[in-house]
Amino acid sequence: MRKKAYLLLVLSWISLLPTRAQTQEIPASNLGLVPLPLEVKAYDGKFTLPAKIVIAAKTADEQNVAGFLKDYFTVLGKVATVTPDANQATVKLKIGALTSKNPEAYQLTVDQSGASITASAGPGLFYGAQTLMQLLPPTAQETIAVPYVRITDEPAFKWRGNMLDVARHFFPVAFVKKYIDYLAAYKINTFHWHLTDDQGWRVEIKKYPKLTQISAFRNESLVGAQQLMKKPEDYKYDGIPHGGFYTQEEIKDVVAYAQKRYITVVPEIEMPGHSVAILAAYPELACKPGPYQTRTLWGISDDIVCPSEETFQFFENVLAEVIPLFPGKYVHIGGDEAPKDRWRESNLVKGIMKKEKIKDVEKVQGWFNNRIEKFLLAKGKKLIGWDEILEGGISPKSTIMSWRGEKGGIEAARHGNEVVMSPASHLYLDYGQNPVPHSPVEPLMIGGYLPLEKVYSYNPLSSELTPAQHKYILGVQANLWTEYIPTPEKVEYMLFPRIMALAEVAWTPSAKKNYADFQQRLGQQFPRLDAKNIKYRVPEPAGLDSTKIVKQGDKATLTLTSIVPDAQIRYTLDGTMPNETADLYTKPLALPVNRNLKIRAITVTPKGRLSVPAEVVIP
Ligand code: ACM
Repeated sequence: MRKKAYLLLVLSWISLLPTRAQTQEIPASNLGLVPLPLEVKAYDGKFTLPAKIVIAAKTADEQNVAGFLKDYFTVLGKVATVTPDANQATVKLKIGALTSKNPEAYQLTVDQSGASITASAGPGLFYGAQTLMQLLPPTAQETIAVPYVRITDEPAFKWRGNMLDVARHFFPVAFVKKYIDYLAAYKINTFHWHLTDDQGWRVEIKKYPKLTQISAFRNESLVGAQQLMKKPEDYKYDGIPHGGFYTQEEIKDVVAYAQKRYITVVPEIEMPGHSVAILAAYPELACKPGPYQTRTLWGISDDIVCPSEETFQFFENVLAEVIPLFPGKYVHIGGDEAPKDRWRESNLVKGIMKKEKIKDVEKVQGWFNNRIEKFLLAKGKKLIGWDEILEGGISPKSTIMSWRGEKGGIEAARHGNEVVMSPASHLYLDYGQNPVPHSPVEPLMIGGYLPLEKVYSYNPLSSELTPAQHKYILGVQANLWTEYIPTPEKVEYMLFPRIMALAEVAWTPSAKKNYADFQQRLGQQFPRLDAKNIKYRVPEPAGLDSTKIVKQGDKATLTLTSIVPDAQIRYTLDGTMPNETADLYTKPLALPVNRNLKIRAITVTPKGRLSVPAEVVIP
């Protein structure tokens, strides 16, 4: 008997073994999560989804989030139902007490009983669901097994922003919603909508119908990169009228769409610069009689609105219609790149300076902004503007978006003003992605070179500020200016994969960031982008870099890798451009030295998409 009992014990212990072995901790990077959560424990056990998935959700937020999960299960070919009853549920969504007080925090557990997400508020629950979706496969599969995890997560920064310029090129509502989906998938919570500029006004204002009849359209657009043109005689235009605008109903629809995804939409109404489109419709707001035309060139115009009473009336009336459309706290007033030539020559401005005892014409912009800010505050809104608004003098209540590097942001934080860091050097996603300036293999673009790694390296908490000053840094934002981005496909090319680096800068504490680890996780995101048919820029193979050449005698060895899972690398040694039929890279290349041999290689994704070539010469 005793022997039998012993045997039973041993047997039952053995039967436990598989479970124990299944719950070995594994590296969190295997999960491919972007942005990296604050604390992740991953195990090699897996929960297999049942044939009929049940999502438990009761409150409005729980049900809202359940809807997104249900839709995703449908994409994966599964049937999911939502019920208020948590018993027997496959996925339990719960608004409840959490150690963290942050409404964006959540806990996600996947174990043998299924998945469970707890958050103290809707945003956290939504982010937990986004993480869960990244644990599910990108496409439909017969059997879906979700890895066991214990995740405790919350963001490093509360402003995790992305700006889309719809003034230089207009994008329809359907695409703006898609763009909002891109942000939501990576836990970006602020969509800055650049609605007005010299080249187009994009929001219906009932009191000023000419804004949508005239200012919303331009006759044509410049062809080519303006910065490469030396003189106006070089300018050529396409002869194609361009324009469009959103009705107030459409704006409300977009804002509601964003709200369901816990994204705040910040409208930008530019003043006093970047206002030529306004002057095209209402030339009486200029210091100098017109006529004006909605601008067809890019860059900065000397023609800006005059700070007259009529102009204040105009912007106050415009803002009075804009404010009710956007429930968020902030209204962006632009404020950048406003040359004062017209103001300097203006008797009206001279009169203002005398009356207000302003010595420097730049400070008139500060006076102008302060009046607008009073109007906004009275309507319960906070003013945010580009860092130029510091130059005119700002109130302690203004928020600064630092784009000309970090200088403005640092100065503002020292004064105790709130700051969003958005330095062009690291976060302007209209900048190029190729080390070769104006490379012929890239689409047309402006600006400098901004590779993925540089975006990733950014830390908004400048070492020039003290920890006490760091609390004024609300967060970070990347911007997509669209002078050279006329189509959704090109938006995607510029945005992906760099937006994922931004997401991690904004979400993951800098002490936990690691570029090599990020690249490994990022690789696992490409099949997800493929599944959504997002035309991301396929990363070139890595290793085509003179510092990576290993020389030994008359041979040089080159090792190439791709972060895209299951991608091929194809290469040429004869100076031609590689395509999908070029030689397949299978092992490190041993190449002769002293022949100036040029090796060019591309990535070919499993879907057959090609990267641009990377190249290196073997000395
Ligand atoms: C800007 O890039 N002009 C804010």
